[in-house]
Amino acid sequence: MKNILTGITPSGTPHIGNYIGAIKPAIEKSKSNSQDNYFYFLSDYHALVKCQDARLVEKYSLEIAATWLALGLDTSKAFFYRQSRIEETTQLSWILTCLAPKGLLNRAHAYKALVDENIQANKDKDKNISMGLFSYPILMAADILLFDTNLVPVGKDQIQHVEIARDLANYFNKTYEDILVLPEVDLACDDVLSGLDGRKMSKSYQNTIELFASEKELRKKIMKIATNSLAPGKAKDYNTCTLFKIYKEFATSGEIEEIKKAYEDGIAWGEMKNILFEKINKTLSGAREKYKYFIENKHEVENILEAGEEKTRKLAKEKLDTIKYALGLRSFC
Ligand code: ADP
Ligand code: TRP
Repeated sequence: MKNILTGITPSGTPHIGNYIGAIKPAIEKSKSNSQDNYFYFLSDYHALVKCQDARLVEKYSLEIAATWLALGLDTSKAFFYRQSRIEETTQLSWILTCLAPKGLLNRAHAYKALVDENIQANKDKDKNISMGLFSYPILMAADILLFDTNLVPVGKDQIQHVEIARDLANYFNKTYEDILVLPEVDLACDDVLSGLDGRKMSKSYQNTIELFASEKELRKKIMKIATNSLAPGKAKDYNTCTLFKIYKEFATSGEIEEIKKAYEDGIAWGEMKNILFEKINKTLSGAREKYKYFIENKHEVENILEAGEEKTRKLAKEKLDTIKYALGLRSFC
């Protein structure tokens, strides 16, 4: 029996990259008949690092929760909750902060990239970098370690964070007692999904296709995906094509083979864009309706989350009590 855990940060409207890289594989796993435990949550404290607009944090939180539900997460089986409602997480985060070597966090990609940018621009190296951003991996380690997580299904960009969680668990086990489980990454897709401009699809690059965009918006976005200028009839390379990379995440293996052949035969970009639109639209139209329902009935979403949080808090409290005892934070009697 394994504990499998992943979080999505409500700092933007969910996009197809989030779906393929994190949500779809997570839901598929939770539907299997295994004895594993699934923990799926909204990392709303992490959102504060990127988004300081209260209305947006609320909006994105509802959207992400509605997304999980619309796509069929079985909440009677999975632990489904908001990070900010499990207070033990921030307590464990402080405990890990006291153990974490600063040098380890200096090397975290997100922090390092911003420092490098500042240096390049001849600015103070820590300009516009909050302690929240710096400590981001520690809070993520707390999310993971609090629930004895074995596997963390995430996209490639999150591997380093899971490694940091593993390192911190190791430090803890060596310093105190061997009570934290060392997590491993479960890489959802080998590569990150590309966005409209060919870079990684990401909220930060504003190149996303929203998962539940209306039909009209979906078509518009797909038509905007950058391609080369090869004319119809000219053979095309599917390996480097964003349209193909997205298509293959939605298609069956037979359909993928057919499209590969069409590329070799010189399919026109307009035609390929139509095929991609039809495929995504068909796959997601049912869930889109459910998504709309949950957005309009947010009290239902609230009730589902509150029930999940009650269930989750029990486990969190038990683990934190064990950890605090190991640290010497104990009753005198
Ligand atoms: P963003 O880059 O848009 O801010 P997040 O960092 O919130 O997305 O990612 C949430 C989850 O979705 C993570 O597990 C991440 O690895 C996955 N993910 C995000 N973008 C992609 C992508 N383009 N391809 C594959 N997975 C992705
Ligand atoms: N940092 C992750 C992201 O932005 C979200 C996240 C927070 C997470 N805590 C986590 C993912 C724990 C997996 C496990 O994508």
